[in-house]
Amino acid sequence: MLRGIISERSTELPSIVIGKLLKMAVEDKSVISLGPGEPDFTTPKGIITAARRALSEGYTHYSPPQGRLELRKAIAEKLKKDNKIDASPDDIIVTTGSTEGILLSLMTMVDPGEGVMITDPGFLAYRPTVEILNGMPLSVRLREEHGWQIDVDELERSIAPEKTNAIIINTPTNPTGTVYTRSALEDLADFAIEHDIMIISDEAYEKLTYDGSRHISIGSLNGMGDRVLTMQSASKTYAMAGFRIGWMHGPEKLVKAMTKLHLFSTLSAPTVSQVAVTAALKGSQKATEEMRKEYDRRRRMMVKRLNRMGLHCVEPKGAFYAFPKISHLTKKSSFKFAEWLLREGKVAVVPGTEFGKYGEGYIRLSYATAYDKIATAMDRMGKALKKL
Ligand SMILES: Cc1ncc(COP(=O)(O)O)c(C=O)c1O
Repeated sequence: MLRGIISERSTELPSIVIGKLLKMAVEDKSVISLGPGEPDFTTPKGIITAARRALSEGYTHYSPPQGRLELRKAIAEKLKKDNKIDASPDDIIVTTGSTEGILLSLMTMVDPGEGVMITDPGFLAYRPTVEILNGMPLSVRLREEHGWQIDVDELERSIAPEKTNAIIINTPTNPTGTVYTRSALEDLADFAIEHDIMIISDEAYEKLTYDGSRHISIGSLNGMGDRVLTMQSASKTYAMAGFRIGWMHGPEKLVKAMTKLHLFSTLSAPTVSQVAVTAALKGSQKATEEMRKEYDRRRRMMVKRLNRMGLHCVEPKGAFYAFPKISHLTKKSSFKFAEWLLREGKVAVVPGTEFGKYGEGYIRLSYATAYDKIATAMDRMGKALKKL
C-alpha cells in the first residue's frame, strides 16, 4: 500500500456522523428516517418534460463556464422580481448545486490562514470547506434564547481582527428553521461594512417560509450590492436536488474570478439541468407553492407533537427542519440520544453536534417526509421518551 498517499487535507477532514446513523437507518427497514436534507417530492412534471425534451433536442454538450445565457437571464429576472436585487446576467454564475458555489466562493476569497465566520449551529458543509482551503473557521454562536437569530454581540466576539474576509449566513436556516428578521440582517450589514468583510448569503430555502414569515435577501438592502454574494439553488425550490443546479450573484469581479476556477472544478454545470431549470424559472410556480403548503401542514403537526412530548423548540418559520432541545430531558449527548432513539424508537434523527459544537443538547428532525410517516415517528418517539 502506498503510504502517505492520502493528503492531510483529506485525512484531517472530520467524518460526518450523519452518514453512519443514516446508513443504520437505511439498513433497518422498520426505521422511519427524519434525517433527510432534501425534498421527498419528485420534480414537478412540467420540469421533467422540459428535461426530456432538452435531451432529445441534443442538449448533451458542455455549456459556457459561467452558465447558459438564457438561464442567467431568467435568474436575473427572478432576482429582481422575487429578491429585489438589481441583477444583470453578467453578474451571475451557474454552479453544480450551491455546494459547488460554497467551494468556489471561498476558493476565490480565502487565502490560507484567513478567517471565515460561520454560524454555529449551521449547515454542515461550511466548516469543512473552509478547512479544505486551509482557512480559519470562526464560529459565531447562535442561541436558542435569541430565537436562533444572528446577533451582533456574537459577531463582535468571533471576528479575528485583520484576518477575517467573509461571513457565510443562511436564511431560512438549516438546521434551526429560523428566518432572519430584517433588523438582524440590517445589523449584520452594518457589521460587514464596519469590518470590511464580504457576506455569502446561502438562500437555498428561500421559498420555504411559513406563518407569514418572509425571506429577505441581504443583498437587497441599501448599499449592499458590492458586499454580498447571493447563493440560491433549484434543489429545494423545485425538488431538483439531483439535477445539481445552483447560482451565485455578486460583484462582477468576483463572479469572473469564480468562473476562472469553475473551469477547473466542473467546467460547466450540467447542460440538460440548466435547460430544465430555465423552464422551471420561467414556468408556473404553482408546484413550489403546493409543496410549501404540504411542508407547512407537516411542520405544524410535528411542532405540536414535539411540544406535547416535552421536546420544546423555537417554532421553525422556514426550511423543513425542527431543532428541539433534549438536554433538559437526558444527560446523553445529542449523538448518544440519536443512537438511542434509533435503537429504542426506530426513528432516525440528526444529532445537533453535526451542525457545530453549539448544537450539543439539540437534535434535528426533517419534515421532508410523508405526513403519515412523521405522525408514526412522533408516536414512536413519545413512547420511547417515557423509557428515558
Ligand atoms: C443550507 C444549505 N445550503 C446548501 C445546500 C446544498 O444545496 P445544493 O443541492 O444546491 O448543493 C443545502 C443542502 O441541504 C443546505 O441545507
